[in-house]
Amino acid sequence: MIFGVGTVDQVRAEVERLGGSRVLLLFGPQVSAAAARVREVLGELVTAEFDGAAMHTPVTVTEEALQLLRTTSADCLVAVGGGSTTGLSKALALRTDLPQVVLPTTYAGSEVTSVLGETANGRKVTRSSPAILPETVVYDVDFTRSLPLGMSVTSGINALAHAVEALYSAESDPVVDGLALDAISRIARALPALAADPSDLDARSDLLHAAWLAGTCLGSVGMGLHHKICHTLGGSFGLPHAETHTVVLPHAMAYNASGAPDAMRRIAEALGVDDAAAGVFDLITSVHGPTALRELGMAESDLAEGARLAVATPYPNPRDLTVEGIHGLLRDAWHGRRPQAAAPAPHRALDTRLSDLAEQVVASFADAPDPRVRHLMQGLVRHLHDFAVTNDLTESEWQYAIDFLTEAGALCGPTRQEFVLLSDTLGVSSVVDVLTNSRTPATTPSAVLGPFYTEGPPERPHGSDISDGQAGTPLWADVRVTDTAGAPVPDAVVDVWQSNAEGFYDVQLPDLEGPVLRARLRTDEEGRLFFWSTLPVPYPIPSDGPVGRMLAAVGRHPYRAPHLHFMIAAPGHQRLVTQLFVAGGDHLDSDSVFGVKDALVVDYTPQHGPTPDGRTVDGGWRRLDYTFRIAPLAD
Ligand code: BEZ
Ligand code: FE
Repeated sequence: MIFGVGTVDQVRAEVERLGGSRVLLLFGPQVSAAAARVREVLGELVTAEFDGAAMHTPVTVTEEALQLLRTTSADCLVAVGGGSTTGLSKALALRTDLPQVVLPTTYAGSEVTSVLGETANGRKVTRSSPAILPETVVYDVDFTRSLPLGMSVTSGINALAHAVEALYSAESDPVVDGLALDAISRIARALPALAADPSDLDARSDLLHAAWLAGTCLGSVGMGLHHKICHTLGGSFGLPHAETHTVVLPHAMAYNASGAPDAMRRIAEALGVDDAAAGVFDLITSVHGPTALRELGMAESDLAEGARLAVATPYPNPRDLTVEGIHGLLRDAWHGRRPQAAAPAPHRALDTRLSDLAEQVVASFADAPDPRVRHLMQGLVRHLHDFAVTNDLTESEWQYAIDFLTEAGALCGPTRQEFVLLSDTLGVSSVVDVLTNSRTPATTPSAVLGPFYTEGPPERPHGSDISDGQAGTPLWADVRVTDTAGAPVPDAVVDVWQSNAEGFYDVQLPDLEGPVLRARLRTDEEGRLFFWSTLPVPYPIPSDGPVGRMLAAVGRHPYRAPHLHFMIAAPGHQRLVTQLFVAGGDHLDSDSVFGVKDALVVDYTPQHGPTPDGRTVDGGWRRLDYTFRIAPLAD
């Protein structure tokens, strides 16, 4: 390691010390002045030059440079530039084991690690090898003088990210922690100084020093969520490296805060702020760095895929990773929201009083005669108290919740069930469905009942039209019911119900005469039944009440994917409540009540011409063929 001002003069001696006499000089596009200085110092040792390094180290560029290296018999690599040029040098060293001398012009820090991130076919892959670690790093503060302020900020925050994630890495140790904390306070001090005067050499020196320290942390311990997200967004969506680090860091920290309270406290101290994540966000805005993924050109529609990829392979992180959690993090980062400071932990004495209170309430159920009631009530109290305490619930928030439930209750009646909607939209109905119903692969999966089933629907004969002339694309449904061995189940009672072409169930239409689009049919000796209806369409669940307001407030749509409901009951068998979804229909991926299962998405095949029972229809019609497999009671 050579650090200082004017250290470029020592490059030739370093190359010779490493046994090099034929140098391949690599440099980035914006550093031609620095490259010229290196060329001057190396003189005739420079055998070839390559200035085509690209972000995220694409393998295609590496292969081009490798060809040049081989045809010129280079025996030493000298790289002048930022992370991309260093990355190219490392990729070449990995393939040739040539010695490397790296002169960084940014604060990426990768010059002191044996890790390389390469991109091939749109995926960034990380490699690690002793051959990747540069033999010599020459830090010349002069080389960073002309780095524009914007790049100094994003590159400096990139360095900050290495230090932050080192502090909560499971592999960290006191030495690494010391380097990380030193790097953090240098960056917190240097960036505002540089924003005030981009030529401030002390600030430049501080930042380069911090980059070295932070890079050493990066090379010593594993990184977590933040780096994983940045690699994913860079490799799969082509987002710029340092800018992405800058936008994501405060949000990754906010996500991890509850899993690493001690590290966050030390980071906040080193930054001189109360809350680490909000403090980093404020530091970035104070020096005019980027704060939103949308400004970097990321499409909002890619956030879900980004979240999925970021948790696709497990890796160590202080807090558990969930697709929903990371999706929320990415949404905040996309909008550029300031992370909320973590709620202060309740005072210890208060803590004890609160847990005493919870235990007192739990004890009050101890004598409940029904053990199941006792168990459920005690569990509910514990969860409710814990929710209130950990979220530092305010009186007005609790009152809001009570008003919400009061309003939900007031809306309920024979044709409206707001509590079912609430349970469905929170996914609890699907949880209970999964816990209750047969999940063997031999049976048809179940799906939520929903609020629109009515007891005792009208009995209809096979072949009747249960739409009773309602508008819609005619649908011929030909259904069989078998047991798990495939034997027909005769005399099964099959209730079907669906909405009309406008998306309303009959019970929602007070002016409509009698039940429509709902019926009870019985299977024949072959376990079969058939009827006419209309093709189901997507429809919104009732959204004019508190549940609808909840969906709107959080940016969720109220639509259900198009489906037909079935309830099948046969002696000796478990009842099956399910739905068949229209393949290719809208909202299959975002059903508002989480009811869609792959096995229930089926073809409602378009047809033309003669119908199975000779009925004449105008234009096209659809056909649904499906066999339900129901479980024996003993299963
Ligand atoms: C339904 O499919 O009928 C439904 C299910 C849950 C909530 C609202 C409607
Ligand atoms: Fe429905």
